[in-house]
Amino acid sequence: MKINLDYSEIATTAQDQFRSDILQGFRLEQKRIPSKYFYDARGAELFEEICTLEEYYPTRTEIGILEKHIAEMASSIGPHTRIIEFGSGEGVKTKLLLDGLDRPSVYIPIDISQEQLEVTSSVLRQAHPGLEVLPLAQDYTAPIILPKASSAFNRTIVFFPGSTLGNFERQEAADFLRMITGLIRETGKLLIGIDMVKDRATIEGAYNDSEGVTAAFNVHLIERLRDELGLDIDPADFEHYSYFNEIESRIEMHLVAKHRLEVVILDEKIIVEEDEHIVTEYSHKFTIASFESLAARVGLTIEHVWQDDKKYFAEILLAGVCD
Ligand code: TRP
Repeated sequence: MKINLDYSEIATTAQDQFRSDILQGFRLEQKRIPSKYFYDARGAELFEEICTLEEYYPTRTEIGILEKHIAEMASSIGPHTRIIEFGSGEGVKTKLLLDGLDRPSVYIPIDISQEQLEVTSSVLRQAHPGLEVLPLAQDYTAPIILPKASSAFNRTIVFFPGSTLGNFERQEAADFLRMITGLIRETGKLLIGIDMVKDRATIEGAYNDSEGVTAAFNVHLIERLRDELGLDIDPADFEHYSYFNEIESRIEMHLVAKHRLEVVILDEKIIVEEDEHIVTEYSHKFTIASFESLAARVGLTIEHVWQDDKKYFAEILLAGVCD
């Protein structure tokens, strides 16, 4: 067997991985920074602040839907379940779900932020003494090996709130949903939060708030490149920019260089031109029909849709199809 290893591509530490991800993203024709790097401790804190902003409607709207309809959701879901949550974050929505469900058995939160996972898990263990909490600190787009629970459960519920599915590109979104189909099998369900297409001003306002918190969150990526990777790059040289791309039905987050600059990453000189845009995040918006056809591609069928009065957001329950 011939083993062909390109040693230059092997990252040994998280910091090496970070550096090589940045280099790969900066080599692209359309430069990119992977959005998972938003969420270090400071980034997670800024994101929590975004979620409390008047303009950022998704979080508050989704919480409102959960509060109003949790009893109905719980009766569709049933008792003694194993709940797997992707990107559990601060846990307000989790608390609503777990408080509302009928004697949940096992809860597996998966989140990249270890600090946050620990805090949330210990709070939940106190509030739900009968619940087995098995946190998993990892990037949830990487292959997942679920921790083995000692409690019995009836079915698996995947909880994926926050319209985070919208942060994937189309194909990745389908792949991720397919992976979820595998987790829930024939008996389980997916409860997912999806942000709806709506007027441009409302969407763009949510991603460019008047207090500048979103801008600080976006520019924080450059601070990480400077502080953690030691790159010669100045956050003050970049501006936050976001716009709703109607054709792709997504809001795009960019960092725009105020003037031409050169950055050296792993001995490679990268040029960023004046006004060049670096893409940091996409957030796709759906209609019920567009989401339904995406779900159908991976064998998921909609059982129930709960929405707010303005139909800004949807909490959708889906089941895998038995074939
Ligand atoms: N998942 C969030 C969303 O798409 C992420 C987010 C909110 C975000 N505001 C942002 C990402 C600003 C980058 C910049 O709604």
